[in-house]
Amino acid sequence: MSDIEQISAQALADIASVQSPDALESLRVALLGKNGTVTAQLKQLGTLPGDQRKAAGEAINLARDAIATALSARKAVLEDAALDARLAGENIDVTLPGRNPQRGGLHPISRTLERITDIFGRLGYELADGPEIEDDWHNFEALNFPPHHPARAMHDTFYFPPDGSGIARLLRTHTSGVQVRYMGEHAPPLRMIAAGKVYRSDSDQTHSPMFHQVEGLLVDEHSTFADLKGTLAEFVRAFFERDFEMRFRPSYFPFVEPGAEVDIAWQQPDGSTRWLEVLGCGMVHPNVLKSCGIDPERYTGFAFGLGVERFAMLRYGVNDLRAFFENDVRFLRQFA
Ligand code: DAH
Repeated sequence: MSDIEQISAQALADIASVQSPDALESLRVALLGKNGTVTAQLKQLGTLPGDQRKAAGEAINLARDAIATALSARKAVLEDAALDARLAGENIDVTLPGRNPQRGGLHPISRTLERITDIFGRLGYELADGPEIEDDWHNFEALNFPPHHPARAMHDTFYFPPDGSGIARLLRTHTSGVQVRYMGEHAPPLRMIAAGKVYRSDSDQTHSPMFHQVEGLLVDEHSTFADLKGTLAEFVRAFFERDFEMRFRPSYFPFVEPGAEVDIAWQQPDGSTRWLEVLGCGMVHPNVLKSCGIDPERYTGFAFGLGVERFAMLRYGVNDLRAFFENDVRFLRQFA
């Protein structure tokens, strides 16, 4: 038997007995690789006398092809065997009960926000938006809070260092600043509602440093306090799906005149009623209209602002506001 025939016979026997894809790969390299035995045979061809070269070359090529075919056939066999073993190991018990994906749901605050903006949407209010990082002008100055005005003290918040232009920026303390932005971009008659997060340095059972507000604004030629009362009465009725006795208690906010806080007569579990403050409101102060380029001689308007958590707590009977933000799924699941 010639060298190449011996090599080939041995190679085919080795290939047939290899048991793993890794060992098979090593064998392939040892035979057909750059320094493999079959390759070495090819390299030696040049040293043979010319009349033997052709026959020897053909024999080597035949052997190489046979080895290559055997390698790929063995590879397929080993891969099939590995797959069979895996399938046999991964038995699926079709009698086990299925695992249901957990259903998510809207957060109660999102639901409440949607409910409020829906009601005002039906009353023709356009949904507007503003940044949570607000500047001093929109959050205070244009709303008739001059610098150092004591009313600012109730709005302690988180301030950013002034930027290059020297503008003081802060996490907005209320959504009232969106009024200013909206009036800057729309001419009366106008009706807008703004909803979102606001920030204050406050934390207890009924306050959290981040909470949500909805702000409403209407400006027209003949809007009056009576329109404001009617609008809010309609809103409260639609939100709670019942009638309430309401009272408008005079109060001070720099951006309205007159201003009021609204209380509703809330039925207690023991049958008694209690006045609960639910929102602030008033007739837009002429200074605010002027700041926004609207003629206060021609136009009047009303505005109101409410805390979304407060409405959610009342509607769902939640007595600690912090529960909304602890992300305990046992609490949240009740609203899903
Ligand atoms: N911005 C007020 C606050 O956060 C709430 C408020 C009161 C908004 C009266 C109004 C308003 O639009 O008229 O305390």
